[in-house]
Amino acid sequence: MDADVFTLFPSWFDWFRGQRHVANVLASGTTLDCVNPRDYTTLSGRQVDDTPFGGGAGMVLRVDVVEAALRARYGRDPLELREDRRVLALTPGGRLLDDALIDELACEPALTLLSGRYEGFDQRIVDHFASDELSIGRYVLAGGELPAMVVCDAVLRKLPGVLGDERSAVEESFSPALQGGPEYPHYTRPAEYRGWRVPDVLLSGHHARIRAWRREQSRARAEGGPLP
Ligand code: ADE
Repeated sequence: MDADVFTLFPSWFDWFRGQRHVANVLASGTTLDCVNPRDYTTLSGRQVDDTPFGGGAGMVLRVDVVEAALRARYGRDPLELREDRRVLALTPGGRLLDDALIDELACEPALTLLSGRYEGFDQRIVDHFASDELSIGRYVLAGGELPAMVVCDAVLRKLPGVLGDERSAVEESFSPALQGGPEYPHYTRPAEYRGWRVPDVLLSGHHARIRAWRREQSRARAEGGPLP
């Protein structure tokens, strides 16, 4: 997969790229590049945003600046870009990110994530250059950088070879293997700590019973809490 993040703060992603699971996937051929729209503005003072028409607080990312950055990156009219890569505008009101959407994105060969700042995007950016609007939750962050990292983290860890053990992504919370339910509880050594014992079934070595217990725990959690 080739992922590009359009951001006014590309250095934030240096830390992200250095995290082990991200570094692993980047070493295996996936790319994660940042493009700073500020490098492509022709406005004085390297301006990228402006005050909203109609008044109101905050600043809005300009459509002409974002177009210039997209054109420079892809060498074509960004209007056509959606035909061969998924272009996601990160907005608090967009489609909510969930496991099904992450699976969908993990199948894309190329992603472009547009991070807004301040009051967000001129709506024409979303309407004409983006394929979808995506939200990581119904709250407002100062910009799309953290949401872009959340999307990249969730998507990249689904790619083959990223997790040490391929099974860990199959039976995790909200996956089809658990019928979309939360994951079952995990325990490790010591088997008893301060009198808190690990459930006997997990120590039994009886794989069919362990599987059944885990499915049951996941189902019970989905219905509102662990079994007694
Ligand atoms: N930009 C600001 N807040 C956001 C959110 N919750 N999700 C996606 N993008 C955002």
